[in-house]
This record gives sequence, C-alpha cells and structure tokens, in this order.
Amino acid sequence: MFSKELLIVLGLFVGSCHSGLVDGVLAAIDCTLVGFLNFVTEFNPNYANQAEHDYRFSIFQQNCAELKQIIQSYQGSSCTFGFTKFMDRTKEEKARMTGGLMNPVNTPAPASSTRTKRQSQAYFDWRNSNNVSPVRDQGNCGSCWAFGSTAAVESQLLIHNHSNYVGLLGLYMNYPDQSEQELVSCVSGSNCGGGNVNAALNYIKNNGQDTESSYPYATSNSACNPVASGKTKIISYWNVGTSEVNIANQLLSTGPLILGLWLPPSFWYYKSGVYQPNAGDCVAGTNGHVMAVVGYNVTSGGTPYWIVKNSWGTSFGQSGYINWYFGNWFSGCIQFQGMTAVSTV
Ligand SMILES: *[C@@H]1O[C@H](CO)[C@@H](O)[C@H](O)[C@H]1NC(C)=O
Ligand SMILES: *[C@@H]1O[C@H](CO)[C@@H](O)[C@H](O)[C@H]1NC(C)=O
Repeated sequence: MFSKELLIVLGLFVGSCHSGLVDGVLAAIDCTLVGFLNFVTEFNPNYANQAEHDYRFSIFQQNCAELKQIIQSYQGSSCTFGFTKFMDRTKEEKARMTGGLMNPVNTPAPASSTRTKRQSQAYFDWRNSNNVSPVRDQGNCGSCWAFGSTAAVESQLLIHNHSNYVGLLGLYMNYPDQSEQELVSCVSGSNCGGGNVNAALNYIKNNGQDTESSYPYATSNSACNPVASGKTKIISYWNVGTSEVNIANQLLSTGPLILGLWLPPSFWYYKSGVYQPNAGDCVAGTNGHVMAVVGYNVTSGGTPYWIVKNSWGTSFGQSGYINWYFGNWFSGCIQFQGMTAVSTV
C-alpha cells in the first residue's frame, strides 16, 4: 500500500510532462490478486464458489491489462478511467450490456409551435428542473434500446405533467416509471438479445406503454402480456439532424433525446471527465448502445460536452451519467443518423 501511494505522489511530482502523470496513474492500477480483492470489496460481485472466483480473477487480469493500455492511449485527455463493475466480465458479457440499434428515422420535426421556446444557453440540464427520472439498471439483458427510449418518455411525462410528480420546493412526490419489460417482451424482433429504438417508439406510439408497476422488469424474454388500459402514448418522434448546435436547441425546446452509438472498449472503464474516444476506437456494427441525452455544457473556456444518461446503474460513470465530448459528432461513434426526439403532446 505504502509503495503504491508513494508512486502516485512521485508520479504527480515528476511534473508537467504527461508521461510522468500517466506513470503515476498506471502504478495505482493494481492487476494482482490484491487489486482483484480491492475490486471485490468495492463492487461486491457474488461468486458461487472458489472455481468461479478463480475464473473471474483471470478475466480481471485481462481486463486490467486492457485498462492500462487505455490509460496510456488516452494520456492528455481530461477523462479518467479505472476499475468499474465490469472488471470481471468477458467481452461477450460486456457486449450483453449493449444490444441497441437506432435505424434512420425520416420523420420531420413537428411544427415548433407545439414545443416550448427557450432561449439558447451555454449550459442546460433537464435534471436541474427535476425533469429526469432516476438512473435505472438494465442488468444482464441487451435492453438499452428499451431503457433509452423509456428515459425520454419518462422525461416527457415530467415536463408536461410536472405537478403530478414534483411538489413544492422541487421535491419529487413520485417518479414516472414506465415499463421497459413491455418493450422487451412485446416489440417484435426485439428482446434481451438486442432491439431497435424505432420499433420501440412505433410500439409506444401505436399501443402505448404500461407503467413499471403494472408490468415490472424481469431482465428476461418473458412472454408478451401487457395491461390493456391506462397506457402512455407518444404522439410523435423525429430525427434531429446532424448539427450539434441545432440538436442542443431541440433538446432545450423538446426534452431529453435518444442517442444511438457504437461503444469503444474504453467506455466500460469510464469514471469521470469528458469522454472523447480516439479515432478508430469504435467500430461500426460493434457494441451498439442506446442512451438518453439530458443536457450539455458548451461554456467557453471548458471542454464542451453532452450529458448522457446510461442504464447501467448509478455505480457507473458519474452517478450513472457520462459527459461525452460535444463538437465532433460523437467522435465518429454515432449510429446511422443517431439521435431521436420524442413527444407525448
Ligand atoms: C396529466 O395528469 C392528469 C391527472 O393525472 C391526467 O389526466 C393527464 O392525462 C396527464 N397528462 C399527460 C400528458 O400525461
Ligand atoms: C460547465 O462548464 C464550465 C466550463 O468548463 C464549468 O466551469 C462549469 O462548472 C460547468 N458546469 C457544470 C454545472 O458542471
């Protein structure tokens, strides 16, 4: 322990050159059994027996080596990477946390008169006005497409029926909580093996979506068995185009947006800072993932970023969120046309 801390300190004092800093950060990444036990203490994975413990340690060592390479290749970036709950998962298991596709949507935006006019601003976050539901956890099911879509719908409910959920002093009385399981079980061609945002939005538009309590999440491909009444429908959804400044204005006037990306391997180790994948890190067709964008910060003098809500629980990233670089069209990681707005009014 002592030598590890000393190395970090030395790394910092070696000074202004990046490699000194990176050496310190790398020295703090412990890929030995001690590091594994630290990981187990922090993230508390439940291993059935010693054989699984040993198997997970071997996966941990491979991932830890990958993490060190990533830290090295991202030196100079403001982003920090480190141990996450995925340290003991195989590539296949990590890929199961994705499974989302977003095909091109050609529907044009509805007349802007139906949307709230807001003045453009350098920093905006729908969380600040209590219009974002809590971070959810899709668990071991490729249902990001259902969670990303549902996050946008839940924000629509908050924005358009605020007093149903948020009382005096901005205190939540309850949260809108819509059923991802209904989408996983009922949207044709989609399930825990992956799904399509457009198919999910079509389903919600045509059939409506149950609440979580009426159709709870089962993390599985259970049979489709929706409740018939009291469902929430979306009225429209549309593609927001490719100009990030224009998209920021649509986020302001409409609400959180749905985002489709190809995830690079470094994403699973993201801890904090502005994430800006290196060119070529993401591969079209690999690890398709869907999340919701709830805000942005393009304040001059700082690194501009989008504020993205993931569905991997609150232990991932910054309380479940990630700041992704704004201005480079998601670092070439965008899927197809990539971003969709929804409206329930
Ligand atoms: C808002 O809440 C009221 C009362 O619960 C309900 O009747 C109405 O349908 C809701 N509107 C929307 C847009 O959800
Ligand atoms: C937005 O970015 C600016 C510039 O980097 C920073 O000073 C500010 O703290 C950021 N706002 C929030 C709420 O994080």
